[in-house]
Formats: sequence, C-alpha cells, structure tokens
Amino acid sequence: MKWLNPIWAASVWRHLHGFVLLYPALGIITIFLGGVAAWGAFNWSLELTNTEKFCVSCHEMKTHIFSEYKKSSHYANRTGVRASCPDCHVPRDWGHKVVRKIAATNELFHWAAGSIRSDEDFKAKRMKLAQKVWAGMKASDSRECRNCHRNDFMAGGKQTKKAKIMHDLAGPWNMTCIECHQGITHSLPVEFDKEAVMDRLHDRMEKDKVNCRSCHENLARPPAGDGWDKD
Ligand code: HEC
Ligand code: HEC
Ligand code: HEC
Ligand code: HEC
Ligand code: HEC
Repeated sequence: MKWLNPIWAASVWRHLHGFVLLYPALGIITIFLGGVAAWGAFNWSLELTNTEKFCVSCHEMKTHIFSEYKKSSHYANRTGVRASCPDCHVPRDWGHKVVRKIAATNELFHWAAGSIRSDEDFKAKRMKLAQKVWAGMKASDSRECRNCHRNDFMAGGKQTKKAKIMHDLAGPWNMTCIECHQGITHSLPVEFDKEAVMDRLHDRMEKDKVNCRSCHENLARPPAGDGWDKD
C-alpha cells in the first residue's frame, strides 16, 4: 500500500508543503476549488438519492409500497399535483435533509443484510416501520405534509363538513395531521386499529361537547357515505 508508506507520504507532504508555502495564493485556490468540488459532489449525491426512481429501486420489490402508492390520490389526481416518496419522507431544508440521509444509511445495512426478503417478511415488519414513520412525523408536527398543505390555506367551506369540523378542532386539541391521517398513501399494517383512532376522537368530542348532529343527522348511524379516509 503506497499510501501507508511513510517515506512516500513524507515526500508527498514535502512537495505539497513547498507548493503551499511557495505559492500561497495558488495553494489557497487549490484548496478552495477542492472544497467546491467536494461540496458539489456531496450535494449532487443528495439530489441523486432524492428521487422516486432511487427509492423505488429498492422499495418496488416489496410489491406493496409502489403498487399501493400508484392507486393513491397523491400519485394521480384531478389537478395533476404529485407527491412523490421524498416529498413525504425526506425533509426539504438542507439541515434536516442531511440528518435524514445519514439516518437512511441504516436502510442500506438492512438492505445489504437482506432483512426483508419476502412479502411475509415485509408484512411482519410493516407495523414497526409504520410506527417509526408516524413517530417521526408527529415529532416534526407533520413538517413534510405542511410543505404542501396548510391549515390556514384550507378553504374550509369547500371541505366536507366533518373535515372542516375536525380541522377546526385540530388546533385547540394540539393534534397534527398524521395523528388523524394514517394510511393515506399506503395500506395500513394489519395490526393497526383505525377504529381506535375514531373512538379516541369521539371521546374527545364528547368531552368538549361538540354538536354530534353536525356530522350525524341521524344519531343512530354513522354519517352517510362514510369510511373516514379512503385507502
Ligand atoms: C438500498 C435499498 C433502499 C433504498 C434505495 C431506499 N430504501 Fe427505504 N428502506 C430499505 C430497507 C431495507 C428498509 C427497512 C429497514 C429496517 O428493516 O429497519 C427501508 C425502510 C424505509 C422506511 C420505513 C421507516 C424507516 O425510516 O426505516 C421508509 C419510510 C423508507 N424506507 C423510505 C425510503 C425513501 C423515501 C427512499 C428514497 C429516498 C428509500 N427509502 C430508499 C431499503 C431502501
Ligand atoms: C407534494 C405535495 C404534497 C405533500 C408533501 C402531501 N400532500 Fe396531501 N395532497 C396533495 C395534493 C395535491 C392533494 C389533492 C389530491 C386530489 O386532488 O385528490 C392531496 C390530498 C390529500 C388528502 C385528501 C385525499 C386523500 O388521499 O385522502 C389528504 C387527507 C392529504 N393529502 C393528507 C396529507 C398528509 C397527511 C401528508 C403528509 C404525510 C400529505 N398529504 C403530504 C399534495 C401533497
Ligand atoms: C383531528 C383529526 C384531524 C387532523 C389533526 C387533521 N385532519 Fe385532515 N381530515 C380529518 C377528517 C375527519 C377529514 C375528512 C375525511 C373524509 O372525508 O373521509 C379530513 C380531511 C382532510 C383533507 C381532504 C379535504 C376534502 O374536503 O377533501 C385534507 C387535504 C386533509 N384533511 C389534510 C390535513 C392536513 C394537511 C392536516 C394537518 C395540517 C390535517 N388534515 C389534520 C381529520 C383531521
Ligand atoms: C403523501 C405522503 C407519502 C408519500 C407520497 C409516500 N409515503 Fe411512504 N409513508 C407515508 C406515511 C404517512 C407512512 C406511515 C404509514 C401510513 O400511515 O401508511 C408511510 C410509510 C412508509 C413505509 C413504511 C411501511 C409502511 O407501509 O408503513 C415505507 C417503506 C414507505 N412509506 C416508503 C415509501 C415509498 C418508497 C414511497 C414512494 C413510492 C412513499 N413511501 C410515498 C407517507 C407517504
Ligand atoms: C366531525 C364529525 C363527527 C362528529 C362531530 C361526531 N361523529 Fe360520530 N362518527 C363520525 C364518523 C366519521 C363515524 C364513522 C366511524 C367509522 O366508520 O368507524 C362516526 C361513528 C359514530 C358512531 C357509530 C359507532 C362507531 O363507532 O362506528 C356513533 C355511535 C357515533 N359516531 C356517535 C357520536 C356522538 C355521540 C357524537 C357527539 C359527541 C358524535 N358521534 C360526533 C363522525 C363524527
């Protein structure tokens, strides 16, 4: 190994050293250009790994992820605005993005180790993975959702009645998007109890004396046409 040879290294250093001392301006420019090139390469690699194509190069294998996404309204909709994988999973601002990318090296290890090889492996692990995403989104106050959606930009009058009521309550209840909107793009893990979410909301409504009839014209039945979020 040439690099480890101390005599060789010393001679390289002598040359570099002399170069830097003799031509300080050139030395600084060289270091500066080297820095710019490294910086550019780093950001370029950030961008390359921030595409749906890159994500799907691994996640298409889990038949679920990509095919479910293709059926969701975030993939194709009336107005043609798409949210792709990084839009929801990778922060936009540089600092948070770098942190997420470093954390994502964990995915590389799991991928290399082949911790999810089959459909069954994926199903068995899905709840754990989803919980990790929910926890992250709750901690960031659904930051990535808010890149596109904002409560104060919502034309409440154009939303369904129950959406409007819930969004008005979300503020005072201190709840963030992901606490009500699980499973908007992917199917929910089988262990997840969506009804429990609804029950908790109902308990809260009862406590706060929300008018039940604003959603239930007929209190004996759930509101017409309901399924809460569609999958
Ligand atoms: C090299 C293959 C590979 C690539 C490329 C990849 N992933 Fe993953 N990803 C994995 C593996 C494997 C796991 C499961 C990790 C585990 O078992 O903990 C995972 C887990 C996840 C999770 C679950 C929660 C978490 O944080 O662990 C999300 C969300 C995710 N990936 C999104 C993405 C997005 C978005 C991209 C593109 C920016 C992407 N992945 C690119 C292999 C990959
Ligand atoms: C890149 C922009 C973008 C991001 C990021 C995004 N959305 Fe959306 N979302 C949209 C658009 C555009 C629509 C409208 C689709 C349509 O016309 O049906 C939509 C629709 C929705 C709907 C209603 C339709 C449905 O599928 O139920 C909900 C609920 C929703 N988004 C929640 C979220 C949540 C929660 C997040 C964060 C996890 C999020 N969105 C992230 C752009 C985005
Ligand atoms: C307290 C629960 C709750 C919270 C928190 C919440 N939502 Fe909703 N949201 C709902 C309900 C309920 C609906 C109606 C679902 C339906 O009609 O199936 C809804 C509907 C929507 C729709 C579709 C509106 C329409 O009329 O089609 C969008 C988009 C949406 N929410 C985005 C968000 C975003 C973004 C956040 C965070 C800023 C958020 N929601 C926070 C409960 C909530
Ligand atoms: C609109 C936002 C949004 C988009 C777009 C999106 N995801 Fe997700 N993703 C989520 C949320 C929210 C969860 C947490 C589980 C849930 O609620 O379904 C999640 C969960 C996951 C998980 C954990 C396993 C699971 O199903 O819960 C993986 C892996 C993942 N996403 C990868 C991807 C990949 C790859 C893409 C692009 C093909 C993508 N996501 C597109 C919001 C999104
Ligand atoms: C913001 C709209 C909204 C309000 C306000 C509301 N509900 Fe509901 N309620 C729903 C939805 C949506 C469902 C359907 C849930 C499902 O399909 O799991 C439901 C379901 C129910 C059910 C059917 C049983 C069940 O769990 O599926 C009962 C009973 C009920 N609500 C009672 C009440 C009472 C009592 C109040 C007043 C404290 C109330 N609701 C206020 C939206 C609302």
